[in-house]
Amino acid sequence: METITNYIAANRDRYLEELFDFIRIPSVGAREENKPDMLRAAEYVKNELLKSGASKAEVYSTAGHPVVYGEKIISEKLPTVLVYGHYDVQPAEPLDQWKSPPFEPEIRDGKIWGRGADDDKGQMFMQFKAFELMNNRGLLKCNVKFMIEGEEEIGSVNLEKFCNDHKDMLAADMILISDTTMISLEMPSITSGLRGLSYVQVEVTGPNRDLHSGLFGGAVVNPCNVLCDMIASLKDKNGRVTIPGFYDDVMECNEEERKEMGKRPFDRKKFMDSVGVDDLSGEEGYSDTERIGIRPTLDINGIWGGYTGEGAKTILPAKACAKISMRLVPYQDAEKIAKLFEKHFLSIAPNGVRVKVEYLHGGQAYVSPLDTPEFRAASKAVEKAAGKKPIPVRSGGSIPIVSVFEKVLGIKSILMGFGLESDAIHSPNENFPVDNFVKGIESITLFFRYYSEFRS
Ligand code: BES
Ligand code: MN
Ligand code: MN
Repeated sequence: METITNYIAANRDRYLEELFDFIRIPSVGAREENKPDMLRAAEYVKNELLKSGASKAEVYSTAGHPVVYGEKIISEKLPTVLVYGHYDVQPAEPLDQWKSPPFEPEIRDGKIWGRGADDDKGQMFMQFKAFELMNNRGLLKCNVKFMIEGEEEIGSVNLEKFCNDHKDMLAADMILISDTTMISLEMPSITSGLRGLSYVQVEVTGPNRDLHSGLFGGAVVNPCNVLCDMIASLKDKNGRVTIPGFYDDVMECNEEERKEMGKRPFDRKKFMDSVGVDDLSGEEGYSDTERIGIRPTLDINGIWGGYTGEGAKTILPAKACAKISMRLVPYQDAEKIAKLFEKHFLSIAPNGVRVKVEYLHGGQAYVSPLDTPEFRAASKAVEKAAGKKPIPVRSGGSIPIVSVFEKVLGIKSILMGFGLESDAIHSPNENFPVDNFVKGIESITLFFRYYSEFRS
């Protein structure tokens, strides 16, 4: 243990330099103009795997951004861990809100700053460095495979096919992922569940052009007003979604489970302060953490229409649009929910407008069992590294591909993440504390040790 800690400390600055090179590649998956950067990032991952001790690594092209696969097989008789991560990052906008440029990483206040510092370049790098360490020190006692994709932030649209096409290559006993959060190093936690997601875009069209709001307003139906009314009606005063059938398949947790989950510490005031609001609200009858962890919800992610430029322009818009995400829980089906949404949304459209609903992407929720050798190994590893036993926490975030791994490959995942809620992932000024990076590498190394022990 001591030697691992020392080894990481001695190599820390090199790790950070290498990670910085990775962050400098602006691999924004959503942007056409960054396509060459996606390829560069994939190549970077491939070379990183080879340098770290993989016996082979390759970039696979897909219909979208490439997937990187690498492996080190020690023996057919030993268990195999498949590590998953993603090299794509979210767009960095709004750029003027960054204190240092998003793709020029730097260390300030003990944190790594930059787009992808946490999600997922920084976290994935902990996996690479733990792998390198184990190879260099002769500690690796199981087979390791890596599948690193470039489309997580845009819905992993081509990864299911990749899994189907490469079932043998990807065969493993478990999947290990560092792409989630923990409460803190002082109060460590392991993510025991993820929410699913059903993402739709809606469009309300009215008149054949923007109209003078004086000459036509009051008589012609206004698509922006209609869209607001329609969306407002999707939740009742108790914060429940009104789409018929929305809750039909929801897994209800029993009192026992809720009591157990309720033991996680949660500082409401601190939480509100961290996001700058003076109150919270959600589904009646559930606590804040339950509203995030075990209940489905519906949110507008973006809404537009009409004149949004400087000053006033008196028009009655021709069209209004919104992007709406529904976070799901086990056993809700993303496509079924999208269909229920569409049916309901069309049914509440008033006369005088046309409504269109488009399903963009989605995925199912995930729950990890807590009584498996892999979960025990993860728990023991984090306990050893952080000095305190981690508690399982159901996260509100989504990694839709995790349920696909279960469905297509038949493999369960362990979500051993070291990010903090304050890391500002997807926001300006994304960061990742160096301590979490270091403890993460240590925990992952220990995980492999305990997993090998528990499996032999
Ligand atoms: N790493 C996150 C998901 C995450 C973060 C889960 C923290 C738990 C804790 C991932 O990159 C992400 O952002 N996922 C998207 C879904 C995707 C389909 C765009 C999300 O949750 O919005
Ligand atoms: Mn991520
Ligand atoms: Mn993300």
